Amino acid sequence: MKKTVLTLLAFNILALNFMKADEGMWLPMLLKNNYAEMQRLGLKLTPEQLYDINNASLKDAIVWFNGGCTAEIVSDKGLLFTNHHCGYASIANHSTASDNILDNGFWAKSFAEEKENSNMWASVLIRMEDVSDRVNKALAGVDIKKQDSVKQATFKAIQKEATEKTTYEASVKSFFKDNAYYLFVFEKFTDIRLVAAPPQSIGKFGGDTDNWMWPRHTGDFSIFRIYANKDNKPAPYSKDNVPYKPKKFLNVSIKGLQDGDFTMVYGFPGRTNRYETSFGIQLAVDKTNPATVELRDIRLKDWKEQMDKSDSIRLLMSSKYASIANYWKYYIGQTEQLKRLKVFEEKQNMEQKFNLWAKDKPEYSKILQTIQEAYGDYKRYAVHRTYINEAVFGSAIELYALSFADLEKALKAEKPDTAAVRKAVAEIRKDEDDFYKSFNLASEQKILASFTEMFYKNIPADQHPAYMAEIVKKYKGKTNKETFEKFAASVFKKSFLIHKADAEKFLSKPDLKELQKDPAYAYAMAFYNNFLTNIKPHLDAFAVINNTQGSKYVKALMEMNPDKKFYPDANSTLRLTYGNVKSYSPKDGVDYRYYTTLSGVMEKENPNDFEFIVPQKLKDLYKNKDFGMYADKSGDINVGFITNNDITGGNSGSPVINANGELVGLAFDGNWEAMSGDIYFDSKYKRTICVDVRYVLFMIDKFGGASNLISEMNIIR
Ligand code: ARG
Repeated sequence: MKKTVLTLLAFNILALNFMKADEGMWLPMLLKNNYAEMQRLGLKLTPEQLYDINNASLKDAIVWFNGGCTAEIVSDKGLLFTNHHCGYASIANHSTASDNILDNGFWAKSFAEEKENSNMWASVLIRMEDVSDRVNKALAGVDIKKQDSVKQATFKAIQKEATEKTTYEASVKSFFKDNAYYLFVFEKFTDIRLVAAPPQSIGKFGGDTDNWMWPRHTGDFSIFRIYANKDNKPAPYSKDNVPYKPKKFLNVSIKGLQDGDFTMVYGFPGRTNRYETSFGIQLAVDKTNPATVELRDIRLKDWKEQMDKSDSIRLLMSSKYASIANYWKYYIGQTEQLKRLKVFEEKQNMEQKFNLWAKDKPEYSKILQTIQEAYGDYKRYAVHRTYINEAVFGSAIELYALSFADLEKALKAEKPDTAAVRKAVAEIRKDEDDFYKSFNLASEQKILASFTEMFYKNIPADQHPAYMAEIVKKYKGKTNKETFEKFAASVFKKSFLIHKADAEKFLSKPDLKELQKDPAYAYAMAFYNNFLTNIKPHLDAFAVINNTQGSKYVKALMEMNPDKKFYPDANSTLRLTYGNVKSYSPKDGVDYRYYTTLSGVMEKENPNDFEFIVPQKLKDLYKNKDFGMYADKSGDINVGFITNNDITGGNSGSPVINANGELVGLAFDGNWEAMSGDIYFDSKYKRTICVDVRYVLFMIDKFGGASNLISEMNIIR
């Protein structure tokens, strides 16, 4: 492979380093700047063993998993470890009341038993390259209104060149708020098969109650495999495909960990906003976070009521319930911790210092004032955006109705365009089965009523679509609640979207008038078009100011702190964070140990609480101390541990790697006391919650009886 020359970011070539070890999601290509410190903390590997584009290195064993998670390759046959919650949708999709692998677990004992998945992918990074100079050259002198389109065109051109005559995929991404640009070239595999998963009573033990919290006892892992064609290249599913042969896979260590041991986490963190201003924090705490939580409360409550009625309903709705519940609790915790840790005040202090420094620098002196002014207008509209995302798109029927918009466009064309109509119908049909499978009429009718009522009450009247007044007039009840219930009942009675057979009938002979007068469709379009015409322009105007000023702000902060090493916000690119296993004290008088054990699982057991059931087989293994080679020195099985590594969503499933480059655990969560971590890193409280790889192997071997998988791995004892 061609060797690329590194051009280091000017602000990164600094010898002095005052950054705390634990904070930072570092770009692997630039790790050399951190190397001395990593060594001091205990790392035994060379920089080239971490990242090398010419030879196999650790990075070749790290996989970007379906966009939202990370996985790692642990055998020369493309075996992948990731979190249970990262495999959840696949596991739930393969579950039925009669073959219920979500509740009972699944262990493939041969390749033939591994389960095919549609819509899954796993990408391995081939290389990354600094393309800042080229992008900046293209943007020089370009009018502010054209910047974005020129930027996108430049990205496209670079991506195209990087992938020509290859099977690779590429993306260019912005770093440090448009102060640097990097190209990433991937090999993307799409034949990904489910190999194993523990029952969710293990993989999701503790449920939403324990989510985002330590001490934790969850076996949050699932196992997949990458398949490739006979040339070891990506190919769509085929029974002729074979297990992928990776350049590198991770050895697995069962030697265990001590407090203070070196650890690093390699993965694809999704999004952080560490350079956020105090104005943004105030808006989140006061308005947008509480609105998100309040709207999700409704869906969770109404769905749960239905899921409790039968196993088959629960299995159909589990996956979408889990995806809402996770970030529902996240926003509750983030708000609470932003307040507790006084992050707003902290940011205000920093901003005061910045303003003092910038006072006589005309280029920078007005940055924060300009951002603050932009928030003045934006504040009025930000919650409307939350309502579009969480209420209009959050109503299953309205989100589905919106997918008919292209069909309306095609039907409206002056000359009937049958090809476009056919294409739009095909697009709708793609999601049709999935939609109706998990569409629960009883809860969704209630949800539509509640959401519309809340929109009516909580969004300023001058921002309502005209359609709102029509609803209120036409369905007038004694209370608002009654009004919107009558409205929702009518939608669910009259819309052809409610029942698959009616929708199919319509799609086989689509008619413009019928579509336009469908009440679910009319509602979706009224709210969405109102948003596009009357609200989005305000959001866009804000974004331009916030982005351009935010970009200058980051650049200025770097000038202001020349001795500090900066790392870019997470943006779903490969990062490495390093630090140590580390216990902590959540509050005065309380100390949290750095690990949990199987005895703790038994302590938490509650057969009457779905979240805390322990399967009989695990109880038997515990009682008989049938732990094989996976027990700790103390004679117990270690389940979880914590480190001070810096991770966020997207890191789920990431390998936790020891000083020798061996897999010791899987990162799967953050802790409650530092839920504000995506905005502000607090080194006293912030921890990464990991499942101990010995618990994973114990499950595979002793609980699942899948010794076929154990013998594939290289286990270091
Ligand atoms: N909070 C975890 C994350 O975002 C997800 C944990 C999944 N478990 C659960 N009980 N929802 O990565």
